[in-house]
Amino acid sequence: MSDIQIPKNSLNLPETIWWENGELFLLDQTQLPLAIIGERQETLEQVSDSIKALKVRGAPAIGVAGAYGLLVGLKNDQDLSLGKFMSQVEAKAAWLGEARPTAVNLKWGLKRMVAFAKEQSATTSQELYGLMLEEAIRIHKEDRELCRMIGVHGAELIQPGQGILTHCNAGSLATSEYGTATSPMYVAHKNQVPFRVYADETRPLLQGARLTSWELQQAGIDVTLITDNMAAHLMSQGLIDIVIVGTDRTAANGDVANKIGTLGVAILAKHFGIPFYVALPYSTIDFDMPHGSGIPIEERDPIEVTHFGERRTAPEGIQVRSPAFDVTPNELVAGLITERGIIRPPFKENLLSEYA
Ligand code: MRU
Repeated sequence: MSDIQIPKNSLNLPETIWWENGELFLLDQTQLPLAIIGERQETLEQVSDSIKALKVRGAPAIGVAGAYGLLVGLKNDQDLSLGKFMSQVEAKAAWLGEARPTAVNLKWGLKRMVAFAKEQSATTSQELYGLMLEEAIRIHKEDRELCRMIGVHGAELIQPGQGILTHCNAGSLATSEYGTATSPMYVAHKNQVPFRVYADETRPLLQGARLTSWELQQAGIDVTLITDNMAAHLMSQGLIDIVIVGTDRTAANGDVANKIGTLGVAILAKHFGIPFYVALPYSTIDFDMPHGSGIPIEERDPIEVTHFGERRTAPEGIQVRSPAFDVTPNELVAGLITERGIIRPPFKENLLSEYA
């Protein structure tokens, strides 16, 4: 049993990331829903391993974890000259940014930290470290507010009695508080709108079963877990009125990379005439990526496919593919629910005019 006390957020859910007395802590999401365990992060390598192992996961959350994680890595560099300290800032940010390739938020958070450090006129490395910590805290706070606003705008899409399908976990656990796809659900629930969520279990790592169904259940939202291959049947039965998912990276044309299986859900939604929405904060938009086809897709360890938990479910030596994400083309997307409002097609023009 860990003796680390886990703070709760305003939804009464465990914080995913917190900084306390100069140290970084993460909720170990690989243990959920069986155990709620926090883990102290003591080195840059540990933070990188935690991101790779999905102890902290979800695009906005790894953006915040990256910003704080850099400070973990710089803790012992504060006695260096400013010039040498800045070289460490750049080298360590570049290294940590490689932990996972698809979600742009990790690199976004680290880039923001490096740019901020370069702009400061601190006289010592220690002073600069303190200023960078303030910036990481701002990134964290900002993520809470961005996600809350996604909910304020997205809640208008949820009508009484509707069935909502979601895939993976784009929830509180994937962000600093409200989540992205779940934020409209939390806001609608607060507004006492009745609705039912169907959570895809999300093979192979079961973020839907282990995380989304858990956090929505904790929050008192009506949630039903289904396996991924049940979605089409439920749609055919008229049980799904709207799909809301998150994204790890949104290209400039509105193509979205999200958890593997999202593309299939979008195609099904199109077939059944169900609107497919994607919720995201601006930190997930990559304006340097013109089309989704250029988004790097993480390929994970085959063991995640050949095993179900600890148990092998496939023959020894079998060939395996394990892409962790897929790209949904913008023509399947009804709207992007952002902190600024719901952006509709044509996405390229409307994203630019909103964020230029
Ligand atoms: O591999 P994961 O669990 O990090 O994948 C997470 C997702 O695909 C989420 O849907 C995405 O990051 C959006 S989180 C608000």
